[in-house]
Amino acid sequence: MAAIDEVEQLDPAALVGLHGRSLLTTQEWPVADLDAVRAVARALAALDRRGIRTPLLPHELAWAVFFDKSTRTKSAWAGAAARLGMHPEIVDGSTTQVSHGETAVETGAMLGMNAHALGVRHDLILGEGNTFMRDVKKGIDDYLDATDDSRCVPIVNLQCDVDHPTQSMADLLWLEDKLGDLADRRITISWAYSPSYAKPLSVAQGLVTLLTRYGAHVTLARPPGYELSDASMEAATANAAGGGSFRVVDDMDEAFREAEVVYPKSWGAHDLMEERVIANALGDSLGLKEIERRAVERNADFTDWICDERRMALTGGGDALYMHCLPADIGDEVTPGVMAAATIDVAREAQWKMYVIMALLATAKVPDLAAALQALASE
Ligand code: CP
Repeated sequence: MAAIDEVEQLDPAALVGLHGRSLLTTQEWPVADLDAVRAVARALAALDRRGIRTPLLPHELAWAVFFDKSTRTKSAWAGAAARLGMHPEIVDGSTTQVSHGETAVETGAMLGMNAHALGVRHDLILGEGNTFMRDVKKGIDDYLDATDDSRCVPIVNLQCDVDHPTQSMADLLWLEDKLGDLADRRITISWAYSPSYAKPLSVAQGLVTLLTRYGAHVTLARPPGYELSDASMEAATANAAGGGSFRVVDDMDEAFREAEVVYPKSWGAHDLMEERVIANALGDSLGLKEIERRAVERNADFTDWICDERRMALTGGGDALYMHCLPADIGDEVTPGVMAAATIDVAREAQWKMYVIMALLATAKVPDLAAALQALASE
């Protein structure tokens, strides 16, 4: 078998520090570690596309709990775990005892006892999801320490209120496939109209914080009232000081003008997302429904925030790369024609997520990973 470059090029020294790591936000990981995970994702993709199996973690349980709906991330988790020889188990959070008040720390202790890796999606309530993941991690780590159990049980953030790191890492891999080095590339992240529901802020927050670390000129466009978190704005501004730039505008046309990449998607109005925190804390389900109704009504003030052919013509050369995390509201966030032209691109963008999750599990759990992958490649 011919050498597989992506596997041959893995640097064992770059992977040592990833052992035992959990990914809760990209911002708290050094760029070198994010790069090492992406290198492993590329190696795993190269092996998979050649039909070479990678059962590095046989008979282990990869448990994921989702407190929100998902298609891509659930199947990416299952696909990643299966390719690593793990047993994937995906659970609806509302069916766990968390819904009866069991704490995240208690839940983590149980998972540390029974599972070998954990994925969590908890993205609907500001201030809750990322905190939940950190508490679960404490429960896992405390249990393993107290019982002298040397197992490593990493947590992968499968989207929270702060970040959607497996999405932004997948997006970064896809961007590099299409553009190579991102330094000085002009990338627009824009709010877009949706009539469906108040979507989490975390995809946009994850993108502005990650892409500003790679020297890109990042523009964020949103209507008044659709601000992202202060923490993500501060992080993006600080990141951009190392090269590239970060600006915020409230005009979608201005954001599209001369962009090389456009990523238009909806998220909820910030003040209503904060109201949702209070209603949720009170267990006020009628109040939550009313806030959701008002959020969709508020969005309707901005139906002209759509990625259409006219706006795509404003971009650099009139042919910017269109990106979306999916699912897109076709006819609202994006016209059918723009989406039809990008159908394969956005599917390829999405597929990187499975290899990112594989890479996170493998780097966290497999000692001498580079050697193990090189051995599989040469079998
Ligand atoms: N992009 C994304 O996370 O998709 P799902 O909600 O279907 O997982």
